[in-house]
Amino acid sequence: MKVFGVDIGGSGIKGAPVDLARGDLAEERYKVLTPHPATPEGVADCVKEVVDHFGWTGPVGATFPGVVTDGTTRTAANVDQGWIGLDADALLTGRLGGESAARPVTLLNDADAAGLAEMRYGAGRDRPGTVIVLTLGTGIGSAVFTDGRLVPNTELGHLELHGHDAEKRASTKAKEDEGLSWQHWAHRVQKYLAHVEMLFSPELFVIGGGVSRKAEKFLPLIEGIRAEIVPAQLQNNAGIVGAAMAAHAARAGEPPAAAGSRAAAGAGRQPATAAGSAARAVRSAVDSPVGWPDAGR
Ligand code: BGC
Repeated sequence: MKVFGVDIGGSGIKGAPVDLARGDLAEERYKVLTPHPATPEGVADCVKEVVDHFGWTGPVGATFPGVVTDGTTRTAANVDQGWIGLDADALLTGRLGGESAARPVTLLNDADAAGLAEMRYGAGRDRPGTVIVLTLGTGIGSAVFTDGRLVPNTELGHLELHGHDAEKRASTKAKEDEGLSWQHWAHRVQKYLAHVEMLFSPELFVIGGGVSRKAEKFLPLIEGIRAEIVPAQLQNNAGIVGAAMAAHAARAGEPPAAAGSRAAAGAGRQPATAAGSAARAVRSAVDSPVGWPDAGR
């Protein structure tokens, strides 16, 4: 079973068809640079370019680096403010398929997507209890799971730490901007993890984002955290895989009558209506256990 995933990030917009049986990309991913400013219209054009590159004609899952509820983007810490309060599901679905909604888009938070992928195929697989997946990058994203069930849009990157927004101090962007050594930065990450641990007492932290490739440089420097800390396994592809999982679950969650007949059912409808239905479906995707029954089919 293949579903398309797109990861919308601050620097790049990348995507590929995903093989959900393996939890891996079915083809080499295609990436375009994120436009600056990252306006909704500009990003929508890039998403279309990425999906069109593969000639993909089915459902598409997409991540967004901010809060997403019912297909509406609510925050925009690291992208253009035009996203705030936007029915982004409708915008993207319309751009990809017009009124036929032939390629319905399911949108979810980027860290939630990465977390879903890690919990099903990666470092959090078969881990019960409270697991927190943190993505360290331009910002800090969080995905909180309890017995495999996601609490969406947790936004733990914006916890206040010593009077600062935590992601401004402990993201990899902060490391680069301030020229911090691994030791110095690891100390900040340690303080951040200690704070999150004080609030949630997780059994496991999974550390994702591009820097997870260099886990050996900073994870051994982190001390005094009770929870186990492991690097993410899907690394840069976690968002793409998680987006595809969400799109698949959204489709599977629809009433059988609508399943498989999106193009016909959507014909003649306004894009917003079709997108609204996709958005309602994604709610069940993220509320569901990670092992969504047929995610591997
Ligand atoms: C945003 C989150 C996002 C994270 C990683 C934060 O600034 O508020 O929604 O998950 O960055 O992109």
